[in-house]
Amino acid sequence: MQDLLAKFSSQLLTNPYPAYHVIRKLDPVHWSDSWQSWFVSRYQDVASLMKDNRLSVSQVGKFSQRLEGEQGLDEARAQLKEIERWLASFLLFTDPPAHTRLRGLISKAFTPRSVELLAPVVQERIDRLLEPLQTGQVVDLMEHLAVPLPVMTIADFLGSRPQDFRELAGWSHDLASFLGNEYLSPQSVARSLASLEGMAEYFRGLMEERRQRPEDDLMSRLLQAQHEGSTLQESEILSMCILLFGAGHDTTTNLIANGLLALLQHPSEAARLVRQPELVDKAVEEILRYDSPSLIAVRSVLQEVEVGGKTLLPGDSVNLCLGAANRDPSQFPEPDRFQVERRDGHHIPFGKGIHFCVGSFLARLEARTVFSTFLRKWPNSRLAAPPERIPTLAFRRLKHLQVELLA
Ligand code: HEM
Repeated sequence: MQDLLAKFSSQLLTNPYPAYHVIRKLDPVHWSDSWQSWFVSRYQDVASLMKDNRLSVSQVGKFSQRLEGEQGLDEARAQLKEIERWLASFLLFTDPPAHTRLRGLISKAFTPRSVELLAPVVQERIDRLLEPLQTGQVVDLMEHLAVPLPVMTIADFLGSRPQDFRELAGWSHDLASFLGNEYLSPQSVARSLASLEGMAEYFRGLMEERRQRPEDDLMSRLLQAQHEGSTLQESEILSMCILLFGAGHDTTTNLIANGLLALLQHPSEAARLVRQPELVDKAVEEILRYDSPSLIAVRSVLQEVEVGGKTLLPGDSVNLCLGAANRDPSQFPEPDRFQVERRDGHHIPFGKGIHFCVGSFLARLEARTVFSTFLRKWPNSRLAAPPERIPTLAFRRLKHLQVELLA
């Protein structure tokens, strides 16, 4: 079998859905030499492998293979070890039993109710971001709304000072490029370690403040969280804050931007939402399915697994393609149609099983509030330029979203 990921490499970066359909049809559990990984694209296979404890999320040792360069390699290797030490304690890269304990603790601190309490703050942030924009103007909604809102919200939720969100976002961006880059130079390794340490230092300061004087924020709740007689150690709280900050904003930016784009590209569906604003929660779910913000979940095989007639061996890397699963025609009739009132087909944009997204409530709250507010204010808006995507395999990310704001 030809390497389908190599064949469709350029489409997969910016417009992956037609390629996903072909790959799913030709070879739904596909070994790619160029990715050195399995690529799983059928809904049933992705959903069941996400719950399979024969697969691991651990990333330890994965990054040193990506190091390239001629000078400073010894120092970079030592720095990589330090970064991997941090990553090994991130909830997202931890298998049971360590995961079970950490997840129990974060679930006590990060509850749906604590997110609902943030609703007025999110609304106020959106109103403030939109306030300077005038009807009739052409604006980039990435710059004015989709990028700043999630980063400000996660900063609010964690309890950091509002004016610090830019610095945190810069550090977090360095970490995201580290995780997403196929090749790492000694310079990028050094920058990523400095950013991790910058974030750790920042959250250490915040932790001290909240230890002295608790407030109604996540940092204070993490300090108090108890689960089956266990509490979080200081280093675990720092890792959790760094992960939550990183995981909590880029993906939500994608949800907001993909959603605004889908509504602008489907005016009759947007009009339905204007007439029936109570459909907004359904619209958010359809947007999450139709253009999933996060396309891929990575695993490695611990024990042999048979799936789709293929044998996955211990040590193999596996890419579970959420984006392809959410467009699988055997699960979602007419999967390429955007329908606000689609019947629930159990889409999986937030994953499934023990690693199911901790922040799904927060992301949904932000998205719901953005779409309602935007359509109330400017229901007849139009795309002012073709949308520009950032080429990436793992996320659905827009670069710009130029829109003419029309009431
Ligand atoms: C639309 C926005 C979001 C999407 C599409 C998304 C997607 C995901 C997915 C697919 C996973 C599972 C990954 C895997 O199994 O390998 C995940 C896990 C996670 N997400 Fe999200 N996420 C979003 C927003 C957020 C937010 C706002 C936060 C935090 C404030 C967050 C925090 C996390 C954490 C901590 C995990 C790891 C959970 C665990 O390992 O037990 N996410 N997310």
